[in-house]
Amino acid sequence: MEAFYVVGPCRLSGNVRIHGAKNSVLPLLAASLLCRESCELTNCPDLSDVHTALAILQALGAPAQREKDRIVLSPWDGTVCEIPEELMRRMRSSIIFLGAILARAGEAALSLPGGCELGPRPVDLHLQAMRALGATVREDHGKIRCEAPGGLKGAQIVLAFPSVGATENALLAAATASGTTVLENAAREPEIEDLAGFLNACGACIRGAGESTIVVEGVKRLSGASYRVIPDRIEAATYLAAAAATGSAITLVDVIPRHLRPVLAVLQEAGCRFSGRGRVLSIEAPARLSRIHSVRTMPYPGFPTDAQAPVLAASTLARGTSIFVENIFEERYKHVGELLRMGASIRVDGRVAVVEGVERLSGARVQAADLRGGAGLLVAALAAQGETVLEGVCHLDRGYEHIEDALCALGAQVKRRVMEG
Ligand code: UD1
Repeated sequence: MEAFYVVGPCRLSGNVRIHGAKNSVLPLLAASLLCRESCELTNCPDLSDVHTALAILQALGAPAQREKDRIVLSPWDGTVCEIPEELMRRMRSSIIFLGAILARAGEAALSLPGGCELGPRPVDLHLQAMRALGATVREDHGKIRCEAPGGLKGAQIVLAFPSVGATENALLAAATASGTTVLENAAREPEIEDLAGFLNACGACIRGAGESTIVVEGVKRLSGASYRVIPDRIEAATYLAAAAATGSAITLVDVIPRHLRPVLAVLQEAGCRFSGRGRVLSIEAPARLSRIHSVRTMPYPGFPTDAQAPVLAASTLARGTSIFVENIFEERYKHVGELLRMGASIRVDGRVAVVEGVERLSGARVQAADLRGGAGLLVAALAAQGETVLEGVCHLDRGYEHIEDALCALGAQVKRRVMEG
């Protein structure tokens, strides 16, 4: 078991390059299953979730080769169409492979992702979309079996909630279905646009990605393409929160600032100033943040739930009271108990967290319970006085590539060590 040993407080300065988006590369790897020719993805982050996705491709018999940030995917023969349960359990978002396997092989079998550290993780909207496209879906003892021997057929699908994963699965399944699919109340996240961009580069015909209504004209087959993954807006938001918490000035390189708008608005309200051009964004944080009136997590273009924990951690040191309302996932305040042990003052009631800013945090031994909560604890540790031992680094490794090296290059003291005792 590894832990981060962080000595704070630090002042960060310099440049940090943002990696490709985890939440884009996973559906793009799933999309490669639809392609009849080789695909090349560049700007792929080196993360444990990406390793799991590659293990799923391998289990399906779809070969992939990785060299640095480039992954080359050879066409899949579509014979093995079951994802082993161990891989489904390792990464809940493995469900994202469902639409592509079903579309290409005419059947798919996987186990239910069940609950996770963020609370229940239902897949009803994913299955509803598959049914609408003509698949029969059977759920039995935690296993899902989908079949569409005659192929999928375009349909009108209205999602009850703009789920990111269900939108992606619907696009993957509809891309090669016969006829037209109209997907309403679709998620509008940048990663949806990225998936549609890749599928279109492979010959799909998808219009409206990034808007609430997406129209897919099914095509017979997809070829291959070479495609660059968009930058990770959540990794970027985490570095911005780290700068905000420590009164620092840093520059992010290779970001799309438009994807970060709701995060920038909140940090601006707290007194941070932003500048930059093109894909470069600089933040200059005040010595002490002002309070943030209210942050409500919402589907894009609202404030991302994944940025809640890092920004909440920064607000623990602000002057005044900040309010957070978590509207997307239950159980997304697991970092709060650990922040209290560092001296923060936070009350949680259901979906609402009330943060009374304190003048200082102090280092403590804390435990990450999930990916973004862990990122929040790391942000707090950078700003806290003394040493913090952050356990549960495996959660951070799911979504941040060598974050300790990047933070050290910015002037922080973070060491990864195998835990003592
Ligand atoms: C994706 C992201 C995750 C992010 C989340 C919300 C990936 C790999 N992960 O997760 O980092 O936090 O979007 O921006 O891209 N829901 C249902 N039924 C369903 C599906 C979802 O009720 O069938 C609910 C969920 O319980 C949750 C909400 O919808 O409350 C949003 O979930 P969703 O948008 O599907 O998130 P993911 O795609 O799982």
